[in-house]
Amino acid sequence: MASNVGEPNVNRGAAGRPRVFVVRTLPSPIEAALRERYDVELNATDETYPTDRLIDAARHFDAIVPTVVDDVPADVFAAQPLRTRIIANYGVGFDRIDLSAARANGVVVTNTPGVLTEDTADLAMMLILAAARRASEGERQLRAGQWLGWRPTHMLGTRVNGATLGIVGFGRIGAAVARRAHRGFGMRVLFVNPSAPDPVAVADARAEQSASLDELLGACDVVSLHAPAREGTRGMIDARRLELMRPGAILVNAARGDLVDESALADALERGTLGAAGLDVFEREPAVSPRLLALNNVILLPHLGSATTASRVAMGKRVLANLEALFQGLPPPDRVI
Ligand code: DGY
Repeated sequence: MASNVGEPNVNRGAAGRPRVFVVRTLPSPIEAALRERYDVELNATDETYPTDRLIDAARHFDAIVPTVVDDVPADVFAAQPLRTRIIANYGVGFDRIDLSAARANGVVVTNTPGVLTEDTADLAMMLILAAARRASEGERQLRAGQWLGWRPTHMLGTRVNGATLGIVGFGRIGAAVARRAHRGFGMRVLFVNPSAPDPVAVADARAEQSASLDELLGACDVVSLHAPAREGTRGMIDARRLELMRPGAILVNAARGDLVDESALADALERGTLGAAGLDVFEREPAVSPRLLALNNVILLPHLGSATTASRVAMGKRVLANLEALFQGLPPPDRVI
C-alpha cells in the first residue's frame, strides 16, 4: 500500500484536529504541547495497555505514540477500518513494532534518534565503572551495616585506566561511549560494527576495528553492547561467546536485553568465569532473573539509559516534529519506514 506522506488531508477529531493516542505518560511539557495541537488521549495513570486497546486506537486515532517498551504487533495494523497513519515511537529502539505489517498497511513509523545519545553513553560509562569498582556491592555492604572499615584487601576491583574496551555496535551511542572511555578514562578501544563507522568518531576514540565479534570478545577486559535488537543480534552473547571472553572480564549492556542469553550470563557470573556485569536492560522487562538478583557481581539498573529530563523532553520534541510533519503532508524527519 502507498505511504501516507504527502497526503495532508487526515481525518479530524471533534475540534477538527488530528486525533493522537499516547500509550504512556509523557513529560508534562510534551503532554501540554500535544494537548495544544491535537485531539489527544493521554495515559494519566501510566498503566500498561493490552493489545486490544491499541487495536481500538488504530480504528479511532490518526496517530499512535507508543514507547520503546510497548508492543505494536501486526493485529494493530490489521484493525478495520484502519485510521492510524503514523506510529510515532517515543524512543530510538523500534524492535517491538511489527515493521512489515506497518509497511504493508501504509503506516509510517518514526523514532527519536540523536537526542539521547550523550545521556545513554554516560549511563553505559557509569555501568563500566560501577561494575569494575564494585560500586553496588560496596553500597549494599555499607547500608547493611556490614562495613568493617578501610582495609588493604577490602573489595578490590579492576583498574579501568589502560584496560581494553570492546564496543559492539559503533553507532551514535557506541561511539559516544568509546570517546568517553578513551579520552576520559585512558582505555584502549576496539569495536565491531556491521557497516562502515563514522571515521571522525573512530579517530576521536583512536578505536581499532576487530575482524569479528568473536575476536573482539577474546581481546577485551570490558565489553559494552550498543547494537539494536533485530534478527542476527538477538541472543548474540550466548554461552559460547561468553566462554570466549577473558577470565574476569566485564560485560555491560545498556542497549537491549534480547542481545544477551540471560541464563548463560547468570551461569558465567555464578561460576566467576565472567568477573562482573552491568545491566540496564533485560530479556523480559520489567521482570529480572532471580539468579541475577541474587548475585553480587552484577549491577542492575531499571532501563535508565535516557532517563534525564533533558533527554526525555527532547525525545518528546522529536515525536512532536514527526507528527507535525506527517499531518502537514511532509516527510517526518525521523522516518524509519
Ligand atoms: C531507546 O530509546 O531505545 C532507549 O532504550 C530508551 O532509553
